[in-house]
Amino acid sequence: MVSNILSIYDLLLNLVFILLITLIVAFITYLYNEYKVRQLLPPGPLGIPLMGYQPFFGKDLHKVVTKLGEKYGSVFTIQMGFKNIVVLNDWEAIKEGLHNDALLGRPKTVLFTVGNTNSSASSPHNWQDTRRFSLQVLRDLGFGKGSMENRITDEIRILIKHVDEANGRRFNIHKCLTPSISNNICHLVFGHRFDYNDPKRVAFDLMLETISKKSIITTAFLSAAPLWLTKRMYSTGAINSRKVFETVAGVIRSEISSHKKSMNPNNKFRDYIDGYLAEMEVRQRKDPNTHFTPQKLAEMVRILFGAGSNAVQDSIEWLLLLCVRYSEHQKRIHEEIDSVVGRDRSPCYADRLHMPFTQAFINESFRYKTKLPFNFMRW
Ligand code: HEM
Repeated sequence: MVSNILSIYDLLLNLVFILLITLIVAFITYLYNEYKVRQLLPPGPLGIPLMGYQPFFGKDLHKVVTKLGEKYGSVFTIQMGFKNIVVLNDWEAIKEGLHNDALLGRPKTVLFTVGNTNSSASSPHNWQDTRRFSLQVLRDLGFGKGSMENRITDEIRILIKHVDEANGRRFNIHKCLTPSISNNICHLVFGHRFDYNDPKRVAFDLMLETISKKSIITTAFLSAAPLWLTKRMYSTGAINSRKVFETVAGVIRSEISSHKKSMNPNNKFRDYIDGYLAEMEVRQRKDPNTHFTPQKLAEMVRILFGAGSNAVQDSIEWLLLLCVRYSEHQKRIHEEIDSVVGRDRSPCYADRLHMPFTQAFINESFRYKTKLPFNFMRW
């Protein structure tokens, strides 16, 4: 009996020993591989094995990165979790990087794509192809042109009506700005706007709120964590409210299916969904394995919708806050509006050419309170 217990004990001891040796060998191999990879990359701080520099990021990631830039120059490497990230930290480096075709893809783990199993971001070529196509469709739909300006002006009129309803009382402008700004991208993507109290609009607004609250932290985390972990966390609802995202995914699916029914391929497309569906049909005829698929369409709709809503809203809210903080500048902006636009008509885009102070204030706000101090990753 005693000898039996001893042999089980020996066996366990041997197992623990083997496990320990395996872990040590795996760790040394990891360090060696990491060392070899780092030799090929620009210099940068070493961080902690397996975690990298992430524990030192703190609240203001961009400030830490800027400080590192002072030591390591305009291009350097930081390890985030298991990944080595090359940081481009000045205008010249960023300009060169963004002109390099090899850097135009998106990794799978960014906020854009979590929740999608086969994201177009998984292949740099597919992402570039989709980006080129999307830009073309948006331009054809009037993105940046007069027709879009008219729709924005109409949407602003509705916003002003809501502001007027407050009758001078204090209210939270954020609640009206979200649907108002996001409706502009809805026109382009879905071909129509949504009333502020439409349940679909309410679902969209809830998702935008969720992204807005969590994006910076989540992006930093998602960028560093292995894909299987981010997917697992997404499916359990740990990193983003899964229910909120799934309600929106349902709305997007129903919009796509009603477009399929009502679309006339002989007519000019009404919006991004029509444009994508038409292109998908052409491509699928040529190549059944094309990356233009209904799933990718849903993903692109979500990306355009999210990017086109949040970035603009955050930028405008910063402008409003800065106007409050710097009331003397607000006064000058008001004077410029009164003298150039007056009180009898809506402003138009061309007015900006005669409003140097307002224009400078907006540009400076982009520098001072940038929406994305730490960009989404490329690969
Ligand atoms: C004030 C307004 C905006 C700001 C500050 C802003 C900011 C940014 C930034 C910094 C990036 C990352 C750029 C890069 O890595 O190259 C980006 C990407 C993107 N933005 Fe915007 N954006 C704004 C408006 C919009 C609008 C209106 C749309 C929709 C039509 C949009 C759609 C996108 C998309 C789809 C991407 C990903 C592009 C890619 O991966 O190629 N953004 N935005």
